[in-house]
Amino acid sequence: MALVCEPLHPLFAARVTGIDMHDPLDAATRAEMIAALDTHAVIAVGHDRPLSNEEQIAFSASLGPMDRGRTPKVAGTGIRIPHNEITDQSNLGPDGTIYEEGDRRLAYKRANRQWHADMSYRPVRGTYSLLSAHVVPPEGGNTEFTDMRAVYDALPETVKSDLDGLVGEHCYWHSRKLGGGPDPTPEERAGRPPALHPLVHVHPTSGRKVLYLASHIAGIQGWPEDASRALIKELMDFATQPPFVFSYEWRVGDVVIWDNLATMHRATAFDDQRFERDMRRTTCRERELVS
Ligand code: OGA
Ligand code: MN
Repeated sequence: MALVCEPLHPLFAARVTGIDMHDPLDAATRAEMIAALDTHAVIAVGHDRPLSNEEQIAFSASLGPMDRGRTPKVAGTGIRIPHNEITDQSNLGPDGTIYEEGDRRLAYKRANRQWHADMSYRPVRGTYSLLSAHVVPPEGGNTEFTDMRAVYDALPETVKSDLDGLVGEHCYWHSRKLGGGPDPTPEERAGRPPALHPLVHVHPTSGRKVLYLASHIAGIQGWPEDASRALIKELMDFATQPPFVFSYEWRVGDVVIWDNLATMHRATAFDDQRFERDMRRTTCRERELVS
């Protein structure tokens, strides 16, 4: 099956037709998808009805080793969606009603409004994320992306050489706190300890250099806190300038796949006390976890 990619932004992101993600992914189409992701880093596929949870899991599993959510989630998250492979990114509780203002689970969801890469706080990082739209609000709630390959390329040469060898300390709780979330319980904290990753990497399949940033970064290994914070802020400000950013407006049935090793993303605001937004994510990882 030949995929057709229609660019959505001058630097990255494409709408892809010629594929229906309800169906199993054959080897030839998989190779085309990986090539399209290497070129565009963000891919949107529209459908006339949302994927079922099972279809989303099956498709994701054929793209790469999947996150199976074996680690404890945020306390009290419940099981609105009874699949360990799916991260519930909605504003809905286990009974399907909207979280009330002040609910810590809602506060943690709102932390997605900061720029990040999924699972950068894990030693085995997130590669592709697949987000499927089941219910979208009538206004707001776009997802924004930034192309961290183009960002790296655009950095001044002096900055590029300064970044050589620097290692970021990524911690889930750091971004939850930045986003206004409450302190984690000791069990939550222990379930998601920090992970170390170079600030610059060579992308494993495209070969492009990438600035690997996320609001999960609490510091730079071996650096004092003030200097770390200042550099991270400077890089974040650079990386999220409008020319690098693409904003995606969702329709029900859309699935967007993004490459966390090549982009950052963030949710944007909507009236989450009034409107439902039901989005479900599956995530591939750098390699299968053996534990
Ligand atoms: C995610 C995420 C953003 C959004 O699913 O990882 O950050 O717009 N989502 O829901
Ligand atoms: Mn995310």
